Amino acid sequence: MSFRSLFFVLLSSLLSAATTAQSIEQRVDSVLRLMTLDEKIGQMNQFNGFWNATGPVPAEGNSLERYELLRKGGVGAVLNVQGVKEVRALQKIAVEQTRLGIPLLFGCDVIHGYKTLTPIPLAEAASWDLQAIETSARNAAIEATAAGINWTFAPMVDISRDPRWGRVMEGAGEDHFLGAKIATARVKGFQGTDLSAPNTLAACAKHFAGYGFVQAGRDYHHTDFSAYTLYNTILPPFKAAQEAGVATFMNAFTAYNGIPSSADSFLMRQVLKKDWAFEGMVVSDWGSIQEMMAHGYAASLQEVAELAALAGCDMDMESSAYVKHLAEAVLQKRVPEARINEAVRRILRLKFQLGLFDDPYRYCDEKREAATIGSATLHKDALDMAKKSMVLLENKGVLPLQAKDEVVLLGAIANDRTAPLGNWRVSADNGTAIPLTEGLQAYFPNLRWATGPMAWSGPEAFHAPIQVNETDTSGWAAAMQLAATSKTVVVALGEHGYQSGEGRSRSSIRLPGLQEAFLRELVQQHPRVVLVLFAGRPLIIPEDIRSKLGALLLAWQPGTHTGDAVAAVLMGQHNPSGRLPMTFPRHEGQIPMAYNDPTGGRPGPSSDVFWSQYNDLPNSPAYPFGYGLSYSKISYSKPKMQALPDGRKVLSVEITNNSARPATETVQLYVKLHANKAGIPAGKQLAGFQQLQLGPGAKQSAIFVLTAESLALFDANGRKHPAKGKVTAWIVPNSADETDSINFVLD
Ligand code: BGC
Repeated sequence: MSFRSLFFVLLSSLLSAATTAQSIEQRVDSVLRLMTLDEKIGQMNQFNGFWNATGPVPAEGNSLERYELLRKGGVGAVLNVQGVKEVRALQKIAVEQTRLGIPLLFGCDVIHGYKTLTPIPLAEAASWDLQAIETSARNAAIEATAAGINWTFAPMVDISRDPRWGRVMEGAGEDHFLGAKIATARVKGFQGTDLSAPNTLAACAKHFAGYGFVQAGRDYHHTDFSAYTLYNTILPPFKAAQEAGVATFMNAFTAYNGIPSSADSFLMRQVLKKDWAFEGMVVSDWGSIQEMMAHGYAASLQEVAELAALAGCDMDMESSAYVKHLAEAVLQKRVPEARINEAVRRILRLKFQLGLFDDPYRYCDEKREAATIGSATLHKDALDMAKKSMVLLENKGVLPLQAKDEVVLLGAIANDRTAPLGNWRVSADNGTAIPLTEGLQAYFPNLRWATGPMAWSGPEAFHAPIQVNETDTSGWAAAMQLAATSKTVVVALGEHGYQSGEGRSRSSIRLPGLQEAFLRELVQQHPRVVLVLFAGRPLIIPEDIRSKLGALLLAWQPGTHTGDAVAAVLMGQHNPSGRLPMTFPRHEGQIPMAYNDPTGGRPGPSSDVFWSQYNDLPNSPAYPFGYGLSYSKISYSKPKMQALPDGRKVLSVEITNNSARPATETVQLYVKLHANKAGIPAGKQLAGFQQLQLGPGAKQSAIFVLTAESLALFDANGRKHPAKGKVTAWIVPNSADETDSINFVLD
């Protein structure tokens, strides 16, 4: 009897045991006992599939070596292998050709859908609709698992205040309160209630921690933030993900207090595994162990392998540091074997939880793959999410459009089926978005349109930079002439999906290329211009243009259902309900910027000199966090507060829809603590929100309960301090609205 058969006999004897946490632990132990040191370290190694890489492609010749290592049990997980056929083929090697037959994990960046693309995560965050966000993640899991994937590298829960950083598209914006709620929704969506179900997958909270604070918004750059920021701003969404049961965490590429995250035992061992009692697995980011050499933290691959393993990084993604060097480190007693066992236990535990030991081909069902990918339900929900994510930023009565209106459509993205798909699209090909031309033709069958100057050229690919058109004005004059023939002009401009995302930092976050000049001329010549803005981050539309726009609809990158979703919002089939999850600055000089920046000791603006302000720019943003309009007139009553004997404060407000159309109103509660011994309180902090569905003429109350505990802050040592003293609260439609406030004292 071979070891493999022996192993499966052993397993089947345990299969009857219920899959309780305890039985999983026993099964993990029984496998661990059979493993050699090399096999254990093999489990800690993750390779990219040998094609379709999402990072530096392995050098020629590596593929064969990698297959050989796989056969020897030297690989525990792969990434970017997709499709049942491919997954099954690779899983078969692991199960049938390795000594112990331990199945592989199949990881992938399923970030905003697999083939049926939902809006980019930042756009989804703009919906503030936690149920819709959860459904979106649920659907992504359903579609991706049908293609063999059992682990997604999502959600990204990095808070960032710098829209120059391209990866803001992948997160939930600048606020940790909203970010934590969305982290929970996404984890629940991906993982469901049963990780072993064939249509749920393991989620991954990334990037632990602080990647969103890269200086100057330049990807992979240096970070420097305080412990106070770490505890109060960066960690809350990670903690929420952990409390929601997220299966894995991923290290950041960056450093905290000078220590690269992949070697940070404070973050991994102390905070995550000890303080939070996280039982899942920590994976490095792509090559982040090896990159510690470039950081200047250690000189050799052996050294970084040891540092990462000791610090608590359980799996090495694409550095080959563990497979090359850990065995020797253990034999020479520089890394205790107990640490290896702990890491392997975490990895095996996940494989058991996913049901891979019971059936390594659990996610490999060709029939389900054919029936699920691109199913009607996925499309219906993706369209719904796309509509909910859009934010109406300006409207001078031009929207909604009427079918009888005279409308022409202009702009580089008017008929584009690729740009609005967004950045992380695992299996969706170029050209698969419904363009705006098609969306509007459903309402205006004889729609006339012209693109105007092109925005970019060259390859539209994940790995290649987009070539922006700065010079070629062809199409400009024809578009202007067309505009002159119509009462209303809709113009679709903005960023390509591949202008935001990883490695896509921009120093200027204005409309790329000739688009800004084109738009300026258009608004100078035409009084009713509706800008449909496509963006993977907050963009800057200069004041002279904004003030002349008839309307501005922020569409973000809506994914597969771009055209039909935008058209539904423009036509009023959907009353716009999105609210900004990130501040839109007036000027790059204001960045980094967030609504809740502490005010400092001399808050501006003031007509005097010595106050915190710019001499050449207002402090305020173009559009604040939480901002968004609808086609309805919504009014807020004065807020009320009731103090309960147990110390709870009940705050309420009445909201009225003074319009004839149903509206969704996101009611936001902000607080300011006037004295807090944990440290300097945030200037203002989102402390609650509620989404009300208001029928025509309807009135509803929004009620919030606050306690000293719910407003607690952390000090720089991670100790939690309940709020104490005077608090000001606002229940308002966005973070800048201070119409009515209410003051109370917490003791
Ligand atoms: C990114 C991660 C991603 C990984 C795998 C890295 O470059 O930073 O977010 O999950 O690649 O594709």
